[in-house]
Amino acid sequence: MLHQAQKITAAANFIRDRWNGAPRAGVILGTGLGNLASFIENPTNIPYEEIPHFPRSTAIGHRGQLVCGTLAGLPVVTMEGRFHVYEGYPQWQITLPVRVMKSLGIDLLVVSNASGGLNPRYRSGEVMVLDDHINLMHASPLMGINDDQLGPRFPDMSSPYDRNLVERALEIARQENFVAHRGVYVALSGPNYETRAEYRLLRKIGGDVVGMSTVPEVIVAVHCGLRVLAISTVTNVCQPDTLAATSGEEIVAAAAAAEYKVRTMVLGVLAQETNGQG
Ligand code: HPA
Repeated sequence: MLHQAQKITAAANFIRDRWNGAPRAGVILGTGLGNLASFIENPTNIPYEEIPHFPRSTAIGHRGQLVCGTLAGLPVVTMEGRFHVYEGYPQWQITLPVRVMKSLGIDLLVVSNASGGLNPRYRSGEVMVLDDHINLMHASPLMGINDDQLGPRFPDMSSPYDRNLVERALEIARQENFVAHRGVYVALSGPNYETRAEYRLLRKIGGDVVGMSTVPEVIVAVHCGLRVLAISTVTNVCQPDTLAATSGEEIVAAAAAAEYKVRTMVLGVLAQETNGQG
């Protein structure tokens, strides 16, 4: 997709005109975590609709702007609201912001999301650090002609989530005395939630949680050589034999209630990066 390089440059130049920081990390705030943006010092807000080639955020619980500034001492570009396959955007466009943040200089991407718990030990309101994923979106953001300047044709996916970051996030949860799991995220395109038979299948193939985001961004982040940390909030429990109906509103509320856990881990990891303990 050689056309992407020009779009990346145009978007990155536009952002640089508005904010002259040198970001070290990109943060994608998923459902319920938008509040983290209020912790950013000296924020510069840039609505997505002003940035060349950016899609617009249409999902509930997603505001739709970049917040650039300093978080836990680290210069960051934060996406307050992300894009999803179910909004109808092609995957290369959903993931364009990751490439733009890379072009601005980040080397670390932190991603958050909401998910349904497939693992019977998981409870609503608990968090899981992603150790691996299964892509059932039936497409990859890397489909099409590969631009070798952006990354390799066949990128390795044996360890998309940085082990060191996973360990550090889990250690912060232990210190702060809340439960944090480590597990496998299954990505479906949505927007409907799953049937009981589908939840059963997803558990059988090794999923601990299921959601509708994150994997496209992570694939692109790995493609362009970023370290990745991703944290999921379990907002509903998907036990096929006792399944209750699920709504988007319920999920946004559950994610907000557990927000402090994700926030604590993200701020803790960023502070370690600031202090060179990464
Ligand atoms: N399925 C898919 N995505 C989700 C769910 C779910 O049960 N909960 C939150 N996001």
